[in-house]
Amino acid sequence: MASSEPQNSLVKVDNLTVRFAAKNRGRRSYIEPVRQVSFDIAPGEVLALVGESGSGKTTIGRTLVKVVEPFGGHLYFDGRDITHLGSRAVRSLHSEVQMIFQDPFAALNPTATIQEHLVLPLRVYQRVPSTKLNLRVRELLEQVGLSPAEELRHKYPHELSGGQRQRVVIARSLAANPRFIVADEPVSMLDVSIRADILKILRNLRDSLKISLLYITHDLASARYLSDRITVLYGGQVMEVGTSRDIVKNPRHPYTRLLLAAVPGREGDLPQASEAAPDLSVERQGCPFAPRCPYTMDDCRTGDIPVRSVGSRHQVACLLEETDKDVLASAP
Ligand SMILES: Nc1ncnc2c1ncn2[C@@H]1O[C@H](COP(=O)(O)OP(=O)(O)OP(=O)(O)O)[C@@H](O)[C@H]1O
Ligand SMILES: [Mg+2]
Repeated sequence: MASSEPQNSLVKVDNLTVRFAAKNRGRRSYIEPVRQVSFDIAPGEVLALVGESGSGKTTIGRTLVKVVEPFGGHLYFDGRDITHLGSRAVRSLHSEVQMIFQDPFAALNPTATIQEHLVLPLRVYQRVPSTKLNLRVRELLEQVGLSPAEELRHKYPHELSGGQRQRVVIARSLAANPRFIVADEPVSMLDVSIRADILKILRNLRDSLKISLLYITHDLASARYLSDRITVLYGGQVMEVGTSRDIVKNPRHPYTRLLLAAVPGREGDLPQASEAAPDLSVERQGCPFAPRCPYTMDDCRTGDIPVRSVGSRHQVACLLEETDKDVLASAP
């Protein structure tokens, strides 16, 4: 029987590790793009997962919607252990857990109308009777700011703009009536001018429908706008977790400080680093950021890096937290 967790979080990721087979000079080897990652998300909370390309963000999102199988650790949803599920249990989970992808065009079927996209999940997940379908489709389209609904419902994806398509994708995920949505870079392929509108819709899902969100992004500025807390990932490992305000105003990990340097208006006294991709091999040791970190010590390259609490809701995986606090202040 599946084990269960206390009910104070809706989503709990506990020590998650994911392994993929990879070819290394013709020989079979493995990478661990996600290693011992833990976080939780409360009902109605938005948690951002921030990190550069290849840090394992999408892979974590895909484990939560049960597309990728965990190698180690546990996943819980509403107290239920969902680490390993059969196909019937996965289908049932999808009425409560949905995912929104980066590319809205690829996510939609070019041969189906907007109405058809929304009717399917309404029927499958909510068993809406035929007589109510038109009304529910109109409500969903209005909920994501698509109007006039009567005109839009008969269109095909190619007849819509990128922003309208992403609204349809959001409406389709809402049609399942989920309690949790993984939004994987939902605005990064959209025109800058419409990104704010889509982020507002997502924020509204939290505020009015109390839906929990895992917001995956490269971009700390949008993470701060949308999320209650931020988890910073590097090389598949958690570097820092804290309230959005703490992460942006009081970053403790050198990598978080580096990310903030990329936010306009925050350039300046922050560590510089090379662009080397992190080692994801199973054999790697120590902190994945050590090769790029300006403060690296010998122990950073070898030992386990404990996660330390540096505030009531703020944790950092960095040995600097155990050494002289003046190092950060006096370093280049
Ligand atoms: N199915 C797979 N098989 C093998 N390797 C994979 C697979 N999926 C992802 N990877 C590798 O895992 C690592 C993490 O990928 P992931 O897509 O999770 O990163 P990401 O943080 O989402 O990056 P991006 O910001 O570019 O979307 C990458 O090195 C990627 O090549
Ligand atoms: Mg990704």
